[in-house]
Amino acid sequence: MKLVILGASGGVGRLLVEQAAKRGHDVRAVARESSAVTAPAGVTVMKGDLESEAFLRECVRDRDVVLSALGLKLKGLAPWNAPERPTFLRDSTDALLRAMKAEGVRRVCAVSSGGVGDSADIIPGFFKAFVAVTAMKRVFVELDAMEQRYFNSGLEHCVVRPSGLTDEPATGKVVVTKKFTGRATIPRADVAAYMLDQAEKSAFTETRPVITVTGG
Ligand SMILES: NC(=O)c1ccc[n+]([C@@H]2O[C@H](COP(=O)([O-])OP(=O)(O)OC[C@H]3O[C@@H](n4cnc5c(N)ncnc54)[C@H](OP(=O)(O)O)[C@@H]3O)[C@@H](O)[C@H]2O)c1
Repeated sequence: MKLVILGASGGVGRLLVEQAAKRGHDVRAVARESSAVTAPAGVTVMKGDLESEAFLRECVRDRDVVLSALGLKLKGLAPWNAPERPTFLRDSTDALLRAMKAEGVRRVCAVSSGGVGDSADIIPGFFKAFVAVTAMKRVFVELDAMEQRYFNSGLEHCVVRPSGLTDEPATGKVVVTKKFTGRATIPRADVAAYMLDQAEKSAFTETRPVITVTGG
């Protein structure tokens, strides 16, 4: 398949690029100019402004599926720490959706987080309280704004909502769940594999799956 991966310098994004190349896909790996991207042989790296419709049009042109692992950069969790670019996710999603529509690309799978939007009640109370009193609150608001844009886009979308991310190796034991119990975690490598599995289906089987490996 012809894939484009946005956020190729990030934790999930790097693994998406690696795994997609290993699976034999034709991969474009996209990141901002200042990012370090190490891509396997055969992967095309594109750098530019992730909020520019013109740049994103070049990125998504002739692709079958867009995979986005973009997130908000936080300086720290203290409540006064605003994200580096507070409205980056909503602005980049707006530009991406316009670019996809202009280029006739219909399928997008993006990473959000368990606990965002209508999945708020799946996270335990202590974690909800943690989000409410730290800078995570701003991240959740922005992830919600991003999700709403995909849900209302009229495009085929799969917004993946993982539990706590780890850098452990992939387990292949991802479950889609309705409730986190205990300590819910998932390796970034399993999130990437789940997204690629969805991309490889002729149509996404889920639109807003909450996924985890432990605590599901
Ligand atoms: N941490 C957790 O336990 C957890 C749990 C559930 C969900 N999530 C969510 O999962 C998502 C992926 O997580 P991750 O660990 O892979 O995130 P990450 O390593 O921080 O990667 C985020 C990506 O977004 C890019 N990005 C951020 N701001 C940008 C900007 N202004 N312009 C261009 N690119 C920008 C980063 O580029 P640079 O490398 O250039 O900064 C990077 O490629 C995030 O949305 C996160 O909130 C996290």
